[in-house]
Amino acid sequence: MDIKSELIQKIQSRTAIVGVVGLGYVGLPFAVEKAKVGFKVIGIENNPIRAAKVNRGENYIQDVRDEELREVVSKGLLVADTGFDRVPEMDVIVICVPTPLTKNLTPDLQYVEKVTREVAARLRPGQLVSLESTTYPGTTEEVMLPILESSGLKADRDFFLVHSPERVDPGNKRYTTRNICKVVGGVGPNSLEVGVAFYSQTVERVIPVSSAKVAEMVKVFENTFRAVNIALVNELALLCDRMGINVWEVLEAAFTKPFGIMPFWPGPGVGGHCIPVDPHYLEWKAKELNFNTHFIALAGEINRRMPEFVREKANRILNRLGIPPSRAKILVLGVAYKRDLNDYRESPALEVIRLLRADGAEVVYHDPYVPSFRDGDLAMESQPLTAELLSSQDLVIITTDHTTIDYEWVVAHAKHVFDTRNATKNVQENRNKITLL
Ligand SMILES: NC(=O)c1ccc[n+]([C@@H]2O[C@H](COP(=O)([O-])OP(=O)(O)OC[C@H]3O[C@@H](n4cnc5c(N)ncnc54)[C@H](O)[C@@H]3O)[C@@H](O)[C@H]2O)c1
Repeated sequence: MDIKSELIQKIQSRTAIVGVVGLGYVGLPFAVEKAKVGFKVIGIENNPIRAAKVNRGENYIQDVRDEELREVVSKGLLVADTGFDRVPEMDVIVICVPTPLTKNLTPDLQYVEKVTREVAARLRPGQLVSLESTTYPGTTEEVMLPILESSGLKADRDFFLVHSPERVDPGNKRYTTRNICKVVGGVGPNSLEVGVAFYSQTVERVIPVSSAKVAEMVKVFENTFRAVNIALVNELALLCDRMGINVWEVLEAAFTKPFGIMPFWPGPGVGGHCIPVDPHYLEWKAKELNFNTHFIALAGEINRRMPEFVREKANRILNRLGIPPSRAKILVLGVAYKRDLNDYRESPALEVIRLLRADGAEVVYHDPYVPSFRDGDLAMESQPLTAELLSSQDLVIITTDHTTIDYEWVVAHAKHVFDTRNATKNVQENRNKITLL
């Protein structure tokens, strides 16, 4: 039997050993999903605290169910290591490491490159390597392939290489790692065949595309689509503010049209590891080809301006209430970038806090999911949300619309609420105390 058929057979019989590099928001749910269907999974996680937690069956990612992690660990189906020594044992190696931006908004591929070098040093014939990290089109073929082939092995003949972008939406209960279709593109037909065989084991529908580059473009386009549409409604919010029109009412009515439109909502800016980051990967690659991605640049500019707008409107509200912004006491409600999540990476709420503090305001925050945080120069602890806290503040700014908070109660006790998410939509009483974005 040739090495491709042998690997496919191992995958289909679930005797293949699966390596997952990077056990974070993407890697840990993926590792658990594979272990649940019977694969033996070895995680490689360079954060020793995280690796030790996995080995004790202790969960640290919200989308993973505690009992599922405990079960696969206790059955010996999932173990974590901090190094790469066990790569030769693995039949499939899935890479889920961060792909951030540098300070100048250019791709920072140091994690992908480092991991690829570690894998290349131990690569053996008959392995499948899959990159799941979001990146610009060309990364798998132009960056990873040469490093892996420096091992002396030839891609698509001796080993297989695919890109299969992760599309998970943290906190989304309806669409999970299992039922979100998976796009797979290989560096050649054999790689694609093996990649499709692997992902079909745990994902309901696999969409094969003709190359790794196409798969990479699919993912960055999806996130660019979101970034551009969010920017569009954010810009509408800025205009509606000038015109004295309630943007939320406009959008809610607009989204009743059953075709040709889909809902996106304005807010204090965009956050998380994807929307503020991924479009810049594409922008950077386009520049290499002397091509300007106007929509991406414009969307980034508008979305990045939103925290500034929140500050400006907060100051307008305070002035109207007769409170100088430099002496105001402000409670920021929610620092997670998205509702019901504990992730505050790139969260616009942090920028809002910085700007208000720069104006001299005394700012505290409450977030039921983020007990404390540190982000560069900013380190804060969540304050208990009490009636006393609410009534002691000049202004409460809702920056994340967590569903566990009773907004009727918040509005009842606050002096005034500036709601940047329309979280108070269903509040009936005291509407005069609410200003919407
Ligand atoms: N979080 C999301 O919602 C999401 C969704 C889709 C795609 N993605 C993409 O998936 C990738 C991973 O994102 P994430 O949110 O899971 O990041 P994360 O920071 O939560 O997890 C990455 C993990 O990799 C580990 N790591 C870093 N360098 C390593 C190394 N050399 N060896 C072993 N482990 C290493 C880190 O310690 C961390 O635990 C990124 O490219 C991201 O853009 C993320």
